Amino acid sequence: MNPVEIKKDIYWVGGIDWDLRNFHGYSTERGSTYNAYLIVDDHITLVDTVKHYLFDEMLERICKVIDPAKIKYIISNHVEMDHSGSIPFLLERCPGATVITSPNGEKGLKMHYGPNMPLKVVNNGDELKIGKRSLKFVLMPMVHWPDSMATYIPEEKILLPNDAFGQHIASSERFDDEFPWEILKHEAAKYYANIVLPYGRQVNKALEAVKAIPVDIIGPSHGLILRSKISDMIKLYGDWANNVTARKAIVVYDTMWNSTKKIALAIHEAFLDSGINARLLNLETNHISDIMTEMLYAEYIAVGSPTLNNGLLPAVSAFLTYMKGLAPKNRKALAFGSYGWGGQSVDEIDKVLNDCGFQMLDKIKLQYVPLEGVLNDMKNKLKEVLK
Ligand code: FEO
Repeated sequence: MNPVEIKKDIYWVGGIDWDLRNFHGYSTERGSTYNAYLIVDDHITLVDTVKHYLFDEMLERICKVIDPAKIKYIISNHVEMDHSGSIPFLLERCPGATVITSPNGEKGLKMHYGPNMPLKVVNNGDELKIGKRSLKFVLMPMVHWPDSMATYIPEEKILLPNDAFGQHIASSERFDDEFPWEILKHEAAKYYANIVLPYGRQVNKALEAVKAIPVDIIGPSHGLILRSKISDMIKLYGDWANNVTARKAIVVYDTMWNSTKKIALAIHEAFLDSGINARLLNLETNHISDIMTEMLYAEYIAVGSPTLNNGLLPAVSAFLTYMKGLAPKNRKALAFGSYGWGGQSVDEIDKVLNDCGFQMLDKIKLQYVPLEGVLNDMKNKLKEVLK
């Protein structure tokens, strides 16, 4: 595939990872891209690179526009190796180039690639003249790592914010208006829920910076480039960063002999009877990263496990660890499960949900196989709580 000119003399030259299905525990069923942007001006500049195994693909695209030896600046907006992994290979092709990065980027790049990379450090608001265009740098710490920054081209109204506004989508299309919006929106939500969710405060700061500048194009480092849906995406990011939820519940569970499943079904019904949209999510059949996407919009979360060996079923344990790390806020929660004799699982779940700072609604612990009357009583009690 050829490079794609996104504005005169500015090209997408990234790599498409069609086969990617796992991004450190996040299921990426649509693959991904690593977007790199080549700016042809007096000083030729490349903004970000690609994962190491797609270097040849990026280089081929660059070569279709210019001789890579002519690259003067490589902007490293983010040290994580899906974006910096090809910098050492590229420097072999353009030995005169300088890598521009943030103060934390300098530290990170040296600790990834050794002390000899030719670096120039920029700070928030710094500008670099590359010819008739200039590059302005906006530090965005923790969106996604301490080193993260955005590069803005004021003359073109193009913002290149790296991970922010990304989506894990491999596609032949490059722009949001060439691709189904509902899929793009879903993948942006999944990306936010699984990568960006812990950093809502920092996202809000970044959004303030973005709203203060005119922007025609947002070129994230993953997925489709935004030019038609910029305001929609900024609105979504604002909602997600502020943990705005819908009247929706998720009931997440694993089960041994279907007793915990019976409780999950009764809880699900209690939500529906209370006018709350609810999703029943068995951990055997739903990936934890998809459950986090559902949770992004959910005001309520119920988590259930039977007691196994005085603790939780492993899938429930894994989900709770993952969810707690992503630090969703402002949720209402309840723990549930069946047990034979010890019954520790529900207490363990309750503790994690409490540690997350959620408002706890109930703790439902039923022995062996709950009979219909017991489930009905439980359901009615829960409906009272949900009133
Ligand atoms: Fe796409 Fe934080 O790297």
